[in-house]
Amino acid sequence: MTHEIIDDLNWRRTTKKFDPTRKVSEEDLNILLEAIRLSPSSINSQPWRFVVIDSQEARERMASTFTSTFEFNKPHVFDATYFILFGYNPRYTREDYAEVVDTQIEDGRLKPEDREKGFRSFFFAEMNTDENGDTSCWTKAQLYIALGNALHTLARLRIDSTPIEGLDTDRVNEEFREELDGYQCDVALAIGYHHADDHNATLPKSRRRMDSILVRI
Ligand SMILES: Cc1cc2nc3c(=O)[nH]c(=O)nc-3n(C[C@H](O)[C@H](O)[C@H](O)COP(=O)(O)O)c2cc1C
Repeated sequence: MTHEIIDDLNWRRTTKKFDPTRKVSEEDLNILLEAIRLSPSSINSQPWRFVVIDSQEARERMASTFTSTFEFNKPHVFDATYFILFGYNPRYTREDYAEVVDTQIEDGRLKPEDREKGFRSFFFAEMNTDENGDTSCWTKAQLYIALGNALHTLARLRIDSTPIEGLDTDRVNEEFREELDGYQCDVALAIGYHHADDHNATLPKSRRRMDSILVRI
C-alpha cells in the first residue's frame, strides 16, 4: 500500500541508539509540543503534564533513577536531544476540570453564562473514579493518546524516537516530584536522531497480519 501516511508509519522505528551529535531543532520541538497539546481526550479532560528534560543537570537527575533492570534505556538520557516525561493525573477532580471549562470559555467555545453546563460531561470522569478517588485507568488511557499522536507527529517530521516504559517509575516519580506536581509518570519519550550503529533502524518492520487483528461486519 502506498500513501504518505503509511510511508511515515513504516519509516518510524523505535531507536535503540541515538547519535548525540545530531540535534532536534527548537522549532521541531515546539511543533511536537503543540501537536501533543492538541491531542484529543475524553471530555477534553487533558489530564496530562509533560516534563522536557534538557539541561545537563536534569539529565543527570534522570540518569540517577535507572537501576540495572532498565539500564538499556539509560544511554538515551544523554544521547537523545530531549527526554520527555509523560505524566497523567491519578486523581482527576472537578477542580481539574474547571481549568478545562474556563479555557473553553476563554477560547469562545462556551459562553460564560453557560459555565455550569460545561460541567455536565464531568459525570464521565466520575464514572471512571473508584471509591478511593483513583482515576488512573482512565487518565492514563488519555495520556497514551497523546503519546501515539507524538509518535505519528515525529514520524512526519522524520525525527527518531523511543517510547519508554522501561523506567524505575517509583524513582522517577520521587526524583521529579516537584516538576510532575502530583502527576504520575509511567512512560517517557526520547527524541533525536538514530546512530549509524542502531541495529533497529534497518530491521524490517513487523506487525500482526490484518486478518488477525480485524473483523469487518
Ligand atoms: C508504550 C511503549 C513502551 C515502550 N517501552 C520501550 C522501552 O522501554 N525500551 C525500548 O527500547 N522500546 C520500548 N518500546 C518500543 C516497542 O518495543 C516498539 O514500539 C515495538 O517493538 C514496535 O517496533 P517499532 O516501534 O520499531 O515499530 C515501547 C513502545 C511503546 C509503545
